[in-house]
Amino acid sequence: MPTLVDPRLDLFAEIARLKRERNAVVMAHYYQEPDIQDIADVLGDSLALARAAQKTDADVIVLCGVHFMAETAKILNPDKIVVLPDLKAGCSLADSCPPEEFAAFKAQHPGHVVISYVNTTAAIKALSDYICTSSNAEVIVRAIPKDQPIIFGPDVNLGRWLVDKTGRDMVLWQGSCIVHETFKRQYITRLMAEHPEAELIAHPECQQDILAMACVIGSTKALLEHTIASPKTTFIVATESGILHTMRTASLHKTFIPAAPEKPGEAGSCGCSTCPYMKLNTLEKVYLCLRDLSPRIELPEALRLAALKPIERMVAMG
Ligand code: 13P
Ligand code: SF4
Repeated sequence: MPTLVDPRLDLFAEIARLKRERNAVVMAHYYQEPDIQDIADVLGDSLALARAAQKTDADVIVLCGVHFMAETAKILNPDKIVVLPDLKAGCSLADSCPPEEFAAFKAQHPGHVVISYVNTTAAIKALSDYICTSSNAEVIVRAIPKDQPIIFGPDVNLGRWLVDKTGRDMVLWQGSCIVHETFKRQYITRLMAEHPEAELIAHPECQQDILAMACVIGSTKALLEHTIASPKTTFIVATESGILHTMRTASLHKTFIPAAPEKPGEAGSCGCSTCPYMKLNTLEKVYLCLRDLSPRIELPEALRLAALKPIERMVAMG
């Protein structure tokens, strides 16, 4: 694709200047490329980004993540300009839950409370009672009265993990993430044999057989915090590869090994522990969206208000 930016521009300086001029805040998810993580004012997991979006007094939010994250920021900030560097930065998990099919699924289970993972479109949020992220999903499930049946969606792996942890027999939507489903038991077993001192840490979107091998399971933030606090110095990381930059920066003396091959074709894997959607955002696109205040996230007001309710319940529950 032809670059739209003059290659002589110092993008770091230009972005800093535009941030000041526009009173903009750059929020980035841990799965963003290293340069974007490094220029971000707020770097966090999806819960931290939602919380930061709720509190900011900036006029412009540049959400460097995927579409549902920017949409959540807009739902919480209807009067602010919210831009996403690449509008095509979607999410396979959000796509695995079409609203019409989810509405029919919900109708088949009357009397159920709906808890939806934040990796959903505004239309799915509008059909939900509570939103959760991987950071607070367990707290939210446990807060629902024990005799209240629950539908959980869209991630089936996170859902199964929550059923195991909380003992709640939830009805699960069968969605998943293409990135977290690529980790292979065989490859990780080999890595563990090569690095017997290493600890396997995994995001709950990974499949059950991978979670069964993991020493620590948690959101991106929980995994990051664990690597900082742990006396261990080597970790095999089963989540999106962008977090390795954050982990390495936070613990310079420690070793972080991706749990999937870095090159396609190795060990029968597609080498895709890199989220193709997250990586559509580039530093050039961050500069362009700050310069042009585009592409913007816009939502019909009725949909925004319906999607806001379950997000507010989540934020209120911590
Ligand atoms: P976190 O909630 O841990 O930030 O994860 C978001 C995500 O997209 C995982 O694939
Ligand atoms: Fe969606 Fe998976 Fe990418 Fe996370 S890693 S944004 S769940 S496709």
